Amino acid sequence: MAVIPVDLAGRSYEVRVGHGLLDDTIVQAREFIEPYHSGGPSNRRKVPVVADRNARRLHGDRLSQSLTSGGYEIAWYDVEPGEGSKSWESLARLTDWLLAHGIERGDHVFALGGGVVGDLTGFACAILKRGCGFVQLPTTFLAQVDSSVGGKTAINTSAGKNLVGAFHQPSLVLADLDALATLPERELRAGYAEVLKYGVLGDSAFFEWLEQQGGQIILLEPKALEYAVATSVAAKARIVAEDEREMSGQRALLNLGHTFGHALEAETGFSERLLHGEAVALGMVLAARYSERRGHLSIDEAERVTRCVDAAGMMSDISALGLSCDGRTLVDHMRHDKKMAGGTLPFVLLRSIGAAFLAKDVILDDVAAFLDEQLQAH
Ligand code: GLY
Repeated sequence: MAVIPVDLAGRSYEVRVGHGLLDDTIVQAREFIEPYHSGGPSNRRKVPVVADRNARRLHGDRLSQSLTSGGYEIAWYDVEPGEGSKSWESLARLTDWLLAHGIERGDHVFALGGGVVGDLTGFACAILKRGCGFVQLPTTFLAQVDSSVGGKTAINTSAGKNLVGAFHQPSLVLADLDALATLPERELRAGYAEVLKYGVLGDSAFFEWLEQQGGQIILLEPKALEYAVATSVAAKARIVAEDEREMSGQRALLNLGHTFGHALEAETGFSERLLHGEAVALGMVLAARYSERRGHLSIDEAERVTRCVDAAGMMSDISALGLSCDGRTLVDHMRHDKKMAGGTLPFVLLRSIGAAFLAKDVILDDVAAFLDEQLQAH
């Protein structure tokens, strides 16, 4: 097992990455479970677990056996899979349920599933009685390497995704690598995009290792997988510890590939046509090529990023998406980005693999022209 500390004054916590952690929840998370044993109304004696319905079906028994072995029962709260559950209605239902369960400020709620459950539960816990604790039990690749760590929690509104939320850090993250064995291969590949991102943005040695070992990760080879997840989490933990609230620009580097990617997701209707990770992979290739166009990055390095995305079995050319729009339409999607400030949008670009920077002087018309070329080019 790898243990990665997220160092935040007074609110530090650990991300533990390893095999079989869900079976060991009673030991790993005992301090966050014990308060439920201390009596009170009978509903309060059960450990509250908010779970994606699929994650509960696939992993619920392991969690429940672990807790039962310590004499605890679970009060399950099921969440429908999908972004639709990150809504005001779901938030209201969940907070009502937690209040009815008698959650107190010192209590911890467990979130089992991917980013949707983590975000919804985290935000509910941020506002419940002005803040109670939560423990993340991420079961998707994307959630293990990205969304369960860092404390950003949010729901979607009719105006856009993640526009209402709070910074609220979990007290513990248990990333059980065994959970990844049940993921569809496409989802694994898409999650791998976020792993690749950490290499591209800040760690050229990790990127080189991924160039060699990427295939092993997608095949879930245990040692390679643990190293990849732990290294990704450590990279994120370092950045979050430096710039928890995205004030200094450090944390913004984690958005590498996301501005281009978000425009592609919006154009494809946030649908199965393009998964979030696939959009990030395409976005990273575009960020690398745009960096090259602006003279920051060598053609060679831009090609290495493209080859790594290719090798992971993801699309690396937007022309392959078959979009009928032009560059301007994609840029219009970017204009709704919550990072827009004073009419400009900061872009994460590359000086080399492992050296990302925030460019605040990007002209959106130039991006549109670049995208026109990319839409036709290959
Ligand atoms: N919860 C995801 C993040 O903080 O980045």
